[in-house]
Amino acid sequence: MRRIRYYQYGTPDVLTLEEADVPVPGEGQVLIRVEVIGANFVDTMFRRGPGNGTPYQRPLPGSLTGDVVGTVEAAGPGTDAGLVGRRVAALISEDAFADYVVADADWLAEVPEGLDDGDASMLPMGGPVALRVLRTGGLAAGETVLVDAAAGGIGHLAVQFAKILGAGRVIATAGSPAKLDFVRDLGADVAVDYTDDDWPDQVREAAPEGVDVVVDSVGGPTLLRAFGLLAPFGRVVVYGAAGGELSAVPVTSVLRLNSLVGFSLLAWRAARPEQARREMTEVAEFFAAGRVRTAVHARLPLTEAAAAHRLLEERSQRGRVLLLP
Ligand SMILES: NC(=O)c1ccc[n+]([C@@H]2O[C@H](COP(=O)([O-])OP(=O)(O)OC[C@H]3O[C@@H](n4cnc5c(N)ncnc54)[C@H](OP(=O)(O)O)[C@@H]3O)[C@@H](O)[C@H]2O)c1
Repeated sequence: MRRIRYYQYGTPDVLTLEEADVPVPGEGQVLIRVEVIGANFVDTMFRRGPGNGTPYQRPLPGSLTGDVVGTVEAAGPGTDAGLVGRRVAALISEDAFADYVVADADWLAEVPEGLDDGDASMLPMGGPVALRVLRTGGLAAGETVLVDAAAGGIGHLAVQFAKILGAGRVIATAGSPAKLDFVRDLGADVAVDYTDDDWPDQVREAAPEGVDVVVDSVGGPTLLRAFGLLAPFGRVVVYGAAGGELSAVPVTSVLRLNSLVGFSLLAWRAARPEQARREMTEVAEFFAAGRVRTAVHARLPLTEAAAAHRLLEERSQRGRVLLLP
C-alpha cells in the first residue's frame, strides 16, 4: 500500500509517498480500507519541526494524523468480527495518510447511511471538538459567543453548533473577506476580520455588553485580546495555538470574574469516555438530520499531500481539506 511520511522537518515538500506493508490490526484494533482522509492543521506544525514558529513537536520519521473514513477490512483480536464491512470513521494519530490504517475499535464512529465523505470525516474529531468546546465554555441559550478561526475545519462547525445550542449572537473571526462571507452563510450573526488591528473594537461594537464565551484555537495576541472583550463571568476556552505561540495569560485577565479553561479531545475521552462516545453519536445525528454541514474546500489525491498542507498553511481553506487514496 502507499503511505505518506516525512524524514526531515521542513516545507510541505518533505512529505514523501512510499510503499509500505498493510498494517496488521493488534489487540483491540481494526484494519480500515481508507475512502477519505480529513487533513488536520496541527500536522503542518509538527512537519515544520521544532524552532520554526511552532510549539508542537513530533519525532522523526514523522507521520500524519487524520480523520479517516473507510470500511473495516479486518477485525483484530478482542474486537467484534461483526465490524467487518462497516463504514466507519476514526481519528488516526499515526500514519493516517495511507491506503489502509489501523484504528482503536473502541473509538470508531459508525457512519450513518447516506452521509457524504466530508461530514463522515468530522464524526470522530472535528464535530465532537466543535460541540464540546462550546459546552466546556458553558454556552447558555441567549448568550454571545466569539468563535476564532471560524472558517476553519473545526471553526466552521463551531459556528453551526453555537446556533444549535441557542447562542443569542455568534461573532465569528476569520482572516479574509471570502472567509467572512463564508461564516455569515453558515449562520454567524457578525463576522470580523481579525487581521484588522482594530478587530476587538469591531467585536465591542457588535457586543457592547461583552462576550460570554470565547472559543479560541489561535492563541498569542488573539487570545490575549479576547480577554478584554469578556462580559462579567465570561469564559475563554482554549483548544489550540494555530498562531504558533503558547500564550502566558496574566492572572489579571481573569480578575473581572472571568475564567480560562483548556480543552483537548484526548483528555476529554480519557476523563469522560462514555460522554465522549455519546457525543460522537450526537454529532452523527446532527449531520444525518442535516442540521450541520461540512464544507469541503478541496478534495485532493493522496499523492498531493504536499498541496493539501500548502492550502492549510496559506490559510486559504474554508472548511475541510480532504485526501482521497
Ligand atoms: N484540542 C483539541 O482536542 C484539538 C483537536 C483538533 C484540533 N485542534 C486545534 O483546533 C484548531 C483548528 O484545527 P483545524 O484542523 O480545523 O484547522 P483550521 O482551523 O482549518 O486551520 C487553522 C486556522 O487557524 C487560523 N490561524 C490564525 N492564525 C494563524 C497563523 N499564524 N498561522 C496559521 N493559521 C492561523 C487560520 O484561519 P484564518 O486565516 O481565518 O486566521 C487557519 O485557517 C487548530 O489550532 C488545531 O490545533 C485541537
